[in-house]
Amino acid sequence: MATHLVLLLILSVTSSWAQTTPPAATHRPKNTPAPGPDMVTEMVNRGNFNTLLSLLNSTGLLNTLQSAPEITLFAPTDDAFARLPASTLQALQGDANLLKSILSFHAVADSYTFRGHYRDHVLMSLNNKPIRLSAYGNVHVYVAVEGVNVTTRNIRIQNGYLNEIDGVMVPPEGNIVDIVEKKDDLKEIASLLTQSGLKDTVKNDMNITVFLPNDNAFRQVDSAVMTYLGSHPDDLKEVILYHVVSRTTLYSIGMKHSLTFPTADHHHDRIMTLEDDMNNIYINNAKLVERDISATNGVIHVIDKVLIPAKILLNIEEQGIVVG
Ligand SMILES: *[C@@H]1O[C@H](CO)[C@@H](O)[C@H](O)[C@H]1NC(C)=O
Ligand SMILES: *[C@@H]1O[C@H](CO)[C@@H](O)[C@H](O)[C@H]1NC(C)=O
Ligand SMILES: *[C@@H]1O[C@H](CO)[C@@H](O)[C@H](O)[C@H]1NC(C)=O
Repeated sequence: MATHLVLLLILSVTSSWAQTTPPAATHRPKNTPAPGPDMVTEMVNRGNFNTLLSLLNSTGLLNTLQSAPEITLFAPTDDAFARLPASTLQALQGDANLLKSILSFHAVADSYTFRGHYRDHVLMSLNNKPIRLSAYGNVHVYVAVEGVNVTTRNIRIQNGYLNEIDGVMVPPEGNIVDIVEKKDDLKEIASLLTQSGLKDTVKNDMNITVFLPNDNAFRQVDSAVMTYLGSHPDDLKEVILYHVVSRTTLYSIGMKHSLTFPTADHHHDRIMTLEDDMNNIYINNAKLVERDISATNGVIHVIDKVLIPAKILLNIEEQGIVVG
């Protein structure tokens, strides 16, 4: 039930745009007076947080946040909640623990302001899961939390800051490897991560983006190619690392224009993101079939094709195997 809900929530978080300089939050110097109305008054006055107010109130969190010494709240708008499937919202309302866990993922027990350009930055939420901040764009810098657009930042309230966001964030269910091993459609890549010895590489990078072919994608690969990779461990590693962008967390919201990224393979071969006018996103010729699955150490996108670097294709063809 919870897993299903989380999937629905993940599916509901989509959009896109151009990534460049990742973002940042700076800590407000202690002792700075924090003027502004109290949190509840500010939210009521703004008029677009009615769902959040009522959900927070029903869990008792409203009082907790209102009376906390310092708080930064990422507040989904009424529209953001309205975009959730009705069944998801009902499920949330009917499961107090789940609701509390999701809502407390939207608050940080400290006062943070977004300022300037920073790299990946993580804030610890009240439910002890990291909230990942990123910034995109050159001229106008947009900030996202867990890939969700922050539409109004740094609204001063008595005990901290309120940030308006246009989606509901879903707490990550573990690191990249944990999530891959739990997903039904990623069994092949999970087993190749083990076979190639790359599990720790993926686990240890704290800001990583992985584009993972699903089992169906692997079924389309010529069996001779899979056999070749099975007996050439270095080439297998290269193929897997070609699906990894290290030390960068790239959510779909940052993928609007054609951008290229160096991969983690030996030559840092570049992969390119493209978006079509149907809001589909591609990485090279593979389509993102599931986006923005947040992990504690980065983000997963599921793709429908296996990407093979040109150099490895040549190695394979040298063996007389026709790839095509
Ligand atoms: C919270 O709930 C209480 C009790 O139902 C109600 O009196 C109060 O007005 C609510 N506060 C907000 C901000 O919705
Ligand atoms: C990556 O993540 C770590 C831990 O969350 C953080 O301290 C560090 O600043 C990040 N590095 C970059 C380059 O963003
Ligand atoms: C994100 O929010 C900013 C500020 O409201 C807005 O200008 C921008 O268009 C939004 N981006 C997306 C992709 O929704």
